[in-house]
Amino acid sequence: MNRNKVICKCRKLTKGDVADAVEQGAVSFRQVKKATRAGDACGHCKKKIKKLIRKLTEDHNQAAEKRR
Ligand code: FES
Repeated sequence: MNRNKVICKCRKLTKGDVADAVEQGAVSFRQVKKATRAGDACGHCKKKIKKLIRKLTEDHNQAAEKRR
């Protein structure tokens, strides 16, 4: 994942910003939005952000599974 790629143009947020929010415990679009303000302007990035959150939480869960 390119952490520097802008995912929300309105708020100038990158994938890295979303990843940081997920790392800090945000697991839904609503929580990421609250933490970063992503998606609270035009909303066009909502789908992309949701997809990224899903991917990041799946990766996290898979890593946790491997550690067991
Ligand atoms: S691109 Fe994210 S709110 Fe507009």
